[in-house]
Amino acid sequence: MSDQQAKKRLYIKTYGCQMNVYDSERMADVLAPLGYGLTDTPEGADLVVLNTCHIREKATEKTYSELGRLKALKLAKAAEGGAMTIAVAGCVAQAEGAEIMRRQPAVDFVVGPQSYHQLPELIARTYRALGQRLAAEFAAEEKFDALPVDRAVTGVTAFLTVQEGCDKFCTFCVVPYTRGAEYSRPVEAILAEARGLAAKGVRELTLLGQNVNAYAGAGGLAGLARQLAKISGIDRIRYTTSHPRDMDEALIAAHGELDALMPFLHLPVQSGSDRVLKAMNRGHTSDHYLRLVERIRAARPDIALSGDFIVGFPGETDREFEQTLELVGQVRYAQAFSFKYSPRPGTPASALAGQVPESVKEDRLARLQDLLNEHQTDFNAAQAGRTLPVLFEKIGRRPGQVVGRSPYLQPVHIEGSPSLIGTIAPVEITQATRGSLTGRLAQDAMAVA
Ligand code: SAH
Ligand code: SF4
Ligand code: F3S
Repeated sequence: MSDQQAKKRLYIKTYGCQMNVYDSERMADVLAPLGYGLTDTPEGADLVVLNTCHIREKATEKTYSELGRLKALKLAKAAEGGAMTIAVAGCVAQAEGAEIMRRQPAVDFVVGPQSYHQLPELIARTYRALGQRLAAEFAAEEKFDALPVDRAVTGVTAFLTVQEGCDKFCTFCVVPYTRGAEYSRPVEAILAEARGLAAKGVRELTLLGQNVNAYAGAGGLAGLARQLAKISGIDRIRYTTSHPRDMDEALIAAHGELDALMPFLHLPVQSGSDRVLKAMNRGHTSDHYLRLVERIRAARPDIALSGDFIVGFPGETDREFEQTLELVGQVRYAQAFSFKYSPRPGTPASALAGQVPESVKEDRLARLQDLLNEHQTDFNAAQAGRTLPVLFEKIGRRPGQVVGRSPYLQPVHIEGSPSLIGTIAPVEITQATRGSLTGRLAQDAMAVA
């Protein structure tokens, strides 16, 4: 159903990780047969879904402030004789569904990440005012089985969730509590979804999972990637997020052998201090991580690495923080995310002694980010003069501009025809900044374009 034909307007706001982005798309897919079409503003919408994130305190707070704004819109619609249904989905819904209902009565129902296939029923029940307002069970299997096979994609890149949940229980993290136990989707279901996406023009897949490299279907993630690469039209495969403990030989080898597997790997380490890593329950030391990086680089020398870092974990000393800077200096990440430790309710680390003062966390974060930014700038600058294959995704902000991605996930801007979108063409890189690359179509590409 196209947006114009849709009788009911659906607004979905997404916070948090790519798994939430995928889930939001799937929620829209579930609701389309019920006559809901997506709109890009909440004003006047019939159904508003907030897909929330619980990872840090700030993320959770956003849920409540957004709900305050939505309540006003709901009242405005009611004053005009209409009705707006407000649903809260995602990880805050899972972690504190009852609290949401108590704090914000404007919320009609709460639905956890494994229950999106129940959305039609929850909406119907809301209309019937039967009052079942909370669905937050863990059954990943049911969720995927019950979602429609057909996806309403329009772009040339797509997310595809292959794994959900986490059994690692890092002491700072809520994910094992909000997303449940590790679950791998069956290979056949993933292949079917991927074929459907390829048929709609998707050329690059990003396989998603909280611990995607723990994928336990036939042949592990490496086996899955090899099968996906055989699908006609699928030229590029990425995956995120990986845990160092699950990076097996087969996957490392695949990076050296499988052309479709892009040379970019998000492999969070969190800290460079072994004492902190142990207190975090990461299950690896800094040395183990560095040796792993060496092995990956031996298989694929040009691989771009990306990471996540937490500064100010309880008890982190200046020296321990310095060890994180040292590890960063050794790895030289192409890109990274770094955060101040945020104590999360119900996690073991939140009860530890030695919580680090906010000002110290801020200081450390600034120092770490300076170093990470420097490395990112260097990594991008090193591409100048090279010719990279770019998958063009969309038109750029400036007239005449098209934008795509390099194998290393860098955005690449060129002056060119929109007909390039959906194609992979060689681009000569002429300029680099920290965030992106600029270039021109290489001579041999101009001949065909
Ligand atoms: N499964 C992934 C990602 C989990 S959440 C992994 O294991 O890496 C994404 C990132 O958020 C984490 O890697 C971590 O760096 C950060 N994070 C998680 N909990 C946090 C907390 N309590 N405070 C600050 N950052 C946190
Ligand atoms: Fe959280 Fe650790 Fe699991 Fe990642 S591996 S989701 S950081 S508990
Ligand atoms: Fe946030 Fe949940 Fe993802 S807590 S980071 S939305 S798994």
